Amino acid sequence: MNHILITGATGQLGKATIDFLIQKGIAANQISALARSAEKAADLSAKGIKIKIGDYLDYSSLVAAFNGVEKLFFISGSELGTRVEQHRNAINAAKEAGVKHIIYTSGFRKNETDTSPVAFLIRQHSETEKFIRASGISYTFLLNGLYADVLPGFLGENVFETGIFLPAGNGKAAFTVRLDIAEAAANILLTTGHENKEYVFTNTENTGLNEIASFLGELSGKQVRYLNPSKAEYLETVMKAGLPQEYAEMIVSFSEAIEQGEFEAEDTDLERLLGRKPTSIFNYLKQVYLSM
Ligand SMILES: NC(=O)c1ccc[n+]([C@@H]2O[C@H](COP(=O)([O-])OP(=O)(O)OC[C@H]3O[C@@H](n4cnc5c(N)ncnc54)[C@H](OP(=O)(O)O)[C@@H]3O)[C@@H](O)[C@H]2O)c1
Repeated sequence: MNHILITGATGQLGKATIDFLIQKGIAANQISALARSAEKAADLSAKGIKIKIGDYLDYSSLVAAFNGVEKLFFISGSELGTRVEQHRNAINAAKEAGVKHIIYTSGFRKNETDTSPVAFLIRQHSETEKFIRASGISYTFLLNGLYADVLPGFLGENVFETGIFLPAGNGKAAFTVRLDIAEAAANILLTTGHENKEYVFTNTENTGLNEIASFLGELSGKQVRYLNPSKAEYLETVMKAGLPQEYAEMIVSFSEAIEQGEFEAEDTDLERLLGRKPTSIFNYLKQVYLSM
């Protein structure tokens, strides 16, 4: 038995991890994927991946899906309101099904207290980690940095005309490219010696919004400024322009966390687990904006 199951397999990280596993030579029939519906997993099924239908909110579907699984790549859920309950279900089901090793996509953080602007997110990861440790199942925690992939959404469609309008001060972050996390996760799933370890999965470089503005300027040949508004000015402006309040406030929380250095990292395990340098932010932005 050396069976791997990927949860969140219909999402971006899950799909990319499966592609890396296949590229690196694992037989598709050694991989299972948890999906909420067969339709969403049709492309995975076509690759020869075994599809297990299940939902984090449906305990018995998880026990059935995890039966016979040795390594569980447990991708955190995306529904914040019920996420802790969902994660508890997954961990209890893994225990009941006899899973040997859980690789969990947690979050990189420094401030674990309620004073963190992203405490709502961090609390869920730290509770999940506690619960996994208490289960007695071997674990690997991937302390994933803030995805570089959130940047296009944070910057907005007209960034080359408007400049970068975010209240992140002069903070920097080790923005991490999701595909790099996927490849390093595949490497972990394919090798041994990762039990009961925590890996910091962040970029090796910390980048501020002013640098991102100058990278965008270099790529476009236009001057792109970083405007650095106050939080109040940001909220008023983007909500007037039609951004929903909940989304605008979430961007403010992340911006505040960037300003406080919450996603700035000194040491990272990503380069070692990738066997190469993580993708630089300049190259990431080049891929995104020059392919549009
Ligand atoms: N570090 C960061 O900056 C950052 C940024 C964004 C997200 N994240 C976290 O990283 C995770 C993976 O990222 P991603 O980009 O791959 O996200 P994504 O594309 O939104 O994928 C999320 C996956 O979780 C599945 N899922 C959601 N609720 C579920 C439930 N109740 N039961 C079973 N599966 C469920 C989704 O299934 P469906 O296809 O059926 O919806 C999807 O496959 C996210 O879920 C989130 O926790 C981290």
